[in-house]
Amino acid sequence: MKKLLLLIIAFISLSQVHADEGMWIPMLLQKNQAEMQRMGMKISAKDIYDVNHGSLKDAIVQFGGGCTGEFVSEKGLLFTNHHCGYSQIVAHSTVEHNYLSNGFWAKNLEEEIPCPGLTVTLLVRMEDVTFQVLDGILPDMSEKERNDKIQSNIKKVTDKAVEGSHYTASVLSFYYGNQYFLFVDETFKDVRLVGAPPSNIGKFGGDTDNWMWPRHTGDFSMFRVYAAPDNTPAGYSSGNVPYKPKKYLPISLSGIKKDDFTFVFGYPGRTQEYLVSEAVDLTVNTLNPARISLRDKRLEIYNAAMNRSVEERLMYSAQVASIANGWKKMIGESKGVKRLNGIEKKKKYEQEFLAWANQNSERKNKYAGLFPQFNEKYAKIRNIELSRLYFNEAAMASDIMQRAFQLYDFVSECADKSVQDSTINKEAQQFYADSKKYFANSYNLKKPVDKKIFMETMWMYYDRIDSQLLPPVFNTLKNKHKDGLKAYLSEAFDNSFLSSEEKTDKLFKDFKRKKGKDVSKDPVFDLVFQIWKFINENYPFSQLRNLNADVNGLYRVYMQGMMEMQPQWHFYPDANFTLRVAYGKIDGYTPADAVDYQYFTTIEGIMQKENPDIYDYVVEPKLKELYIRKDYGKYANKDGELPVAFIATNHTTGGNSGSPVLNAKGELIGINFDRCWEGTMSDIMYDPSQCRNIVLDIRYCLFVIDKFAGAGHLLKEMTIL
Ligand code: ARG
Ligand code: GLU
Repeated sequence: MKKLLLLIIAFISLSQVHADEGMWIPMLLQKNQAEMQRMGMKISAKDIYDVNHGSLKDAIVQFGGGCTGEFVSEKGLLFTNHHCGYSQIVAHSTVEHNYLSNGFWAKNLEEEIPCPGLTVTLLVRMEDVTFQVLDGILPDMSEKERNDKIQSNIKKVTDKAVEGSHYTASVLSFYYGNQYFLFVDETFKDVRLVGAPPSNIGKFGGDTDNWMWPRHTGDFSMFRVYAAPDNTPAGYSSGNVPYKPKKYLPISLSGIKKDDFTFVFGYPGRTQEYLVSEAVDLTVNTLNPARISLRDKRLEIYNAAMNRSVEERLMYSAQVASIANGWKKMIGESKGVKRLNGIEKKKKYEQEFLAWANQNSERKNKYAGLFPQFNEKYAKIRNIELSRLYFNEAAMASDIMQRAFQLYDFVSECADKSVQDSTINKEAQQFYADSKKYFANSYNLKKPVDKKIFMETMWMYYDRIDSQLLPPVFNTLKNKHKDGLKAYLSEAFDNSFLSSEEKTDKLFKDFKRKKGKDVSKDPVFDLVFQIWKFINENYPFSQLRNLNADVNGLYRVYMQGMMEMQPQWHFYPDANFTLRVAYGKIDGYTPADAVDYQYFTTIEGIMQKENPDIYDYVVEPKLKELYIRKDYGKYANKDGELPVAFIATNHTTGGNSGSPVLNAKGELIGINFDRCWEGTMSDIMYDPSQCRNIVLDIRYCLFVIDKFAGAGHLLKEMTIL
């Protein structure tokens, strides 16, 4: 009896570990329903996804290609993150109407701002089409034959799916090509900006707090989807009307407590949970560190410039936000995998797998040879990936090298008689016009910064990359200058026409094709030319496609083996930008010895972080007034505090930004916007003790709209419980 009890306990704790991990396919959620309900869910899988009736899935949208959003009114009003609407908010900002700094709130439909190019996509339905897609696939086909056949099968499936409709369709591979799903989508093209808080709220904490807990960012913005009068998608038109979604989310003000069930419904982009140890090693011990150190240097240089003047801050802030976002994520990811002993764990698993495979001859034939094949492919991938990394993050880090690279084809065209003069002239004029623009835009400020970036990244290329991957031009140049490579690089930058408007004028004002020779002799152009030539001859990036296809083929078999070995385990497919459900519970965590993190933050923390001298920590005066008066209205928690953000164990990744976070009844309690730093390895390996998603508490969001912005009319559209 005791034994049985222990077994049951072991089973329950095992399945609990499993509970938080995973990004599940909404259509197959029946399989998770019992577990979700055991964890506290009060609704059914059918309430979440149903093709025949309106379900929560009808309230979820893919926002602008890389984020998620959710409808909160029957008039097409939706929430997403501030950082997801960022480029739209910036695009509509001018010095007079600086919506980025001051926020923007449309007082009525007329004031809502059209956003050309922005789209919102809804999932109409999904379907398992594995059978159709794998029709005619034979075991002895090469990966190429197989892929060709699959592509033609997919085309048949998607053509049929959209016949006679305005929908679009795609078929995507799951579990490395072991299963295929069809997605039928409806895309709306008239999306308008409705509201955004000022940066000091929407981006409070900036890159300093990014990926970190405790967090105090009001990371939300609001948009509205418009449709033709018959509720179908249409390009922008003043005759369009607010779209009426089949479903929108009710909002709960009843708050949260530890261990409450939550789920996230959205579009996670990419995870790689089933990588072999060799691949994890490559990512966390080779690629991440190389990328991190190259970015360290660039960030140091840009940050110094940004702290020098307002003009320079504006010049670099978008670029730096993106470099810094990936940089910090990679640092966290590599640390997290190390802390988990992730590579050793994978190795141990692989040994078990091998032992299992060797138990009978059929399995042995199918699976035992996998690991040496993986290793062989990854050795090749490693070299090309590293070359590519140094090319992108070092060679292409500076403007001057990027601009030189633009001339790569042009120079050979000048020498190629089959290319007509008119083509050459057109390209020369285009380059010249771009250059004039480039120089006109504060080049006096940009030049010293770009020179530093150029010098440092080229030096690191030479100094850090494996010797067999180093383009020989570096050693040639090093010997060319008596004071070595750095001195050569410095002179090359100064002497290049690419750093001088005057020299550019001379060369390009009246371009003749024989001047192509002069371009080719330019020291910076020559550098790019030699590097790119070496890479193309030895480590061409184009090979990666085939290598990755081969590796995919190996993973397809490996995945089958893992599923065969652990038939009781409920495997979830890696994220691939399709709609998923992640579920877990609200909980704090312990990131380090003697450090305990609570699961929610309040406005108190904003005031503690306030620092008028630090850009990221400036607090809006109006927010401070409300704080002093404790004027939180119905948005306060039961202790009278104003909640700002909370964390939970939902397994999320990039693309989940803007996703609704829902409670046991399927009501909106928050908007997902980030992950805690110690858990960023969850794209490779999930750890229930460290992995937390970071959520904007919907009460802070509504408080900002209502009390701070005085845009209460927007709340009237919503269903607030
Ligand atoms: N880390 C979040 C994400 O991966 C937020 C990024 C935007 N914020 C920023 N400070 N760069 O997308
Ligand atoms: N901020 C991320 C996004 O844009 C979400 C954070 C994550 O990677 O989990 O999707």
